[in-house]
Amino acid sequence: MSTAGKVITCRAAVAWEAGKPLSIEEIEVAPPKAHEVRIKIVATGVCHTDAYGLRCILEPIDKDDFPFPGVNLGTFPMILGHEGAGIVESTGEGVTNVEPGDAVIPLWLPQCGKCKSCLDPNNNICKMLRENQMLGLMPDKTSRFTCKGKQVFHYMGTSTFSEYTVVMDISVAKIDSAAPLNKVCLLGCGFSTGYGAAINSAKVKPLSTCAVFGLGGVGLSAVLGCKNAGASRIIGVDINKDKFEKAKRFGVTECINPKDHSKPIHEVLREKTDGGVNFAIECTGNIDIMQSALECCQTGGGTCVIVGGAAAGAISVKPFHLLLGRILKGSFFGGWKGVDDIPKLVNECIAKKISLENLVSFTLPLEKVNEAFELMDAGKSVRTVLVHQHHQN
Ligand code: APR
Ligand code: ZN
Repeated sequence: MSTAGKVITCRAAVAWEAGKPLSIEEIEVAPPKAHEVRIKIVATGVCHTDAYGLRCILEPIDKDDFPFPGVNLGTFPMILGHEGAGIVESTGEGVTNVEPGDAVIPLWLPQCGKCKSCLDPNNNICKMLRENQMLGLMPDKTSRFTCKGKQVFHYMGTSTFSEYTVVMDISVAKIDSAAPLNKVCLLGCGFSTGYGAAINSAKVKPLSTCAVFGLGGVGLSAVLGCKNAGASRIIGVDINKDKFEKAKRFGVTECINPKDHSKPIHEVLREKTDGGVNFAIECTGNIDIMQSALECCQTGGGTCVIVGGAAAGAISVKPFHLLLGRILKGSFFGGWKGVDDIPKLVNECIAKKISLENLVSFTLPLEKVNEAFELMDAGKSVRTVLVHQHHQN
């Protein structure tokens, strides 16, 4: 029996209060309104940005620039999750890009196709991100979720820790239905962020030397990007030596633990690389490491890309470091335009040009969502993927 147009009762992990464990609840998901899509979520990764939302540690550093304004941070109850994949259940009026049955990846970074950013081929930061997506509510300022009679807020416009969710139509990427959803869900955030940082932002060149700082899910994806771009030397840097063995399987050619050296890590790297690397990609979120990533780049074009999110603090840049031709840049969602590019990345996964296998450390049911956060906090997982069982429709 079709569920289109009806309220769906299903299970979701609800965050009732900041910093408290999530609880599995029965919730109601309203039908999609105009230009909205209701999705049956099949699988979702658990990412640091979910923890930031839960713990309310993302603060507006620069109010004009900050992509996460509005009520959704610190507004509870809410349903977290922004790294999912699923199947379209129904669509609201005016939706033309997807139809029921399509395999999709919900996008926390929309692509409206019309704003100044979307019309610029080099800009992926769609204006709808700030204006609509991050408000904790749908664009009409209401929520599609209720639980125990209370309104429940959306998170990052995706809320994938639910068996069903509703997103804007500009926030879905239609993908090949042959894609394994329990793996390609990682394209919704972590993988694309790291891989694109190497491919789009650094623009890693064949036979170059790269350093990747931080060998978590984002860093390993950056390593894969460097490798696929043809880098001949990829140096992995991490303070957790347990990360090294896996990193080598991704293409790291040598590993360095800053703890094994008395000198600053950028000096060690410069010595090892005859004056510095061509590309440094920072995937730790640690401010001191951002500084090192810049300073380990060679003069005359060495490029440092900042990927990690730091909720506070600043990096200081010596003008002389830049004067000598180093390039410092940042990367947001890997520079990808989600609607256009994520389907292409999915095709690369299907064609086995990209393997996501080793990024998934654990696959757990939704009930174990709190365990997934613990594994992430303890640095024991690259990524945990929650697979929804859909007990109830
Ligand atoms: N020096 C070297 N490595 C470090 C340091 C440091 N000072 N601090 C942390 N690391 C390493 C950790 O040991 C870990 O292996 O960085 C890695 C980070 O990996 P994850 O915690 O798995 O995080 P990931 O999901 O890869 O995200 C990386 O991107 O979006 C941001 O908020 C996210 O800041 C985080 C970063
Ligand atoms: Zn746009």
